[in-house]
Amino acid sequence: MPQSGFLRNEFPTLSNLTFLNTAFCSPVATSVYEASQLFLDERMATPDAMRCWDETTEETRELVARLIGADASEIAFATSAAMGTNIVAEGLSLGPGDNVVLDNLAYPTDTVLWLRRADERGFEVRTVGNVGGLVTLDAVANAVDDNTKLISVSEVSYINGFRYQLRQLAELAHAHGAYLLSDSTQSVGAVRLKVRDVDVDFVTCGAYKWLLGPVGLAFFYIKRELQGRFPPLGFGWKQISKYAYSDDRTKAPDVERCSFFDDARQYEFASLNTQGVYALRAALELVERIGLEWIEQRTISLNRRLRAQLSEQGFELFTPSETKSGITTFFVEQEASLLEYLKGRNVAVTARTDSEQVRVSPHFYNTEDEVDLFVHHLLDWSQSRISSEA
Ligand SMILES: Cc1ncc(COP(=O)(O)O)c(C=O)c1O
Repeated sequence: MPQSGFLRNEFPTLSNLTFLNTAFCSPVATSVYEASQLFLDERMATPDAMRCWDETTEETRELVARLIGADASEIAFATSAAMGTNIVAEGLSLGPGDNVVLDNLAYPTDTVLWLRRADERGFEVRTVGNVGGLVTLDAVANAVDDNTKLISVSEVSYINGFRYQLRQLAELAHAHGAYLLSDSTQSVGAVRLKVRDVDVDFVTCGAYKWLLGPVGLAFFYIKRELQGRFPPLGFGWKQISKYAYSDDRTKAPDVERCSFFDDARQYEFASLNTQGVYALRAALELVERIGLEWIEQRTISLNRRLRAQLSEQGFELFTPSETKSGITTFFVEQEASLLEYLKGRNVAVTARTDSEQVRVSPHFYNTEDEVDLFVHHLLDWSQSRISSEA
């Protein structure tokens, strides 16, 4: 188990802010900051050090693969989690008669993307509703049939932290000849995901939350055997693995004789956010150093503590209390006023205006004291409201 002092020191933000908002964006670890800086230093010294960038990218790809139990050939970098979802949507070539199954705890990208594409291409989108913050396997199973081509979920919902058992969803999808896509932006880095164990077909994941990484970089996992069936979103020079040139003196590539990547690198197709890749490498090294098993236990335990206290104090949870994730959402009236009150006390959480929800998302670097302090402020604020209304 790592020393909590060491962990806290890695995140300067935590010395002056009770930061309980990793589901929004993580604070920057010193080593991640330095890695970002290192890229600029290297570029300042040697602006054309592309070999060095490529080596870092491949090392980072290995780190992602190790984290989720995949092969590096199954990992592509992207600018956003949404890009992964779009690759899947394009590759499925859906049309009339087909359907895609979602739920109403998914990230807005899913809703926008699938409904827009359904309008254009005439397939059906079936949205399974949550009941009390939970989507049961039975509810999903009722929506799936042999015309279902994809079940698309957030492994952990950004709204309330509800977490699916992906293994069961994969079995359900595969039994109907469909695929399973998981947006794991709110799970990878907080809890363990091993893609082979759960047999998920695609995972898309942004880096700037539980993974402690940069903004503008995400990874996309696609099973090796599916890569031939799901083309990249575009074409570009980075897909060439070995150049062959035309015989004239222009040195234009002779596309017919060039070799191309046929693994997940084909999805990258042009320049990457390389500074982000440097930062992500440092973030993943940090996660490995701390140990994901320990991170998971700690994150779940802090959330459990929070949920228990909220329930004890009579707040209605939107998060199923037993779900194992880093997010706890509860209902409270005048959430905007609560958010202001907390800001004034240097506490960061997310309030969802118009839905009377507050989302609290402690990660491993938070302490029990911070969770207790949040509840303490919440009760003080409630008390002050009651007094002012009396
Ligand atoms: C589940 C989930 N997916 C995706 C995103 C956004 O990621 P991106 O902008 O990289 O697509 C978020 C951000 O909150 C999220 O919670």
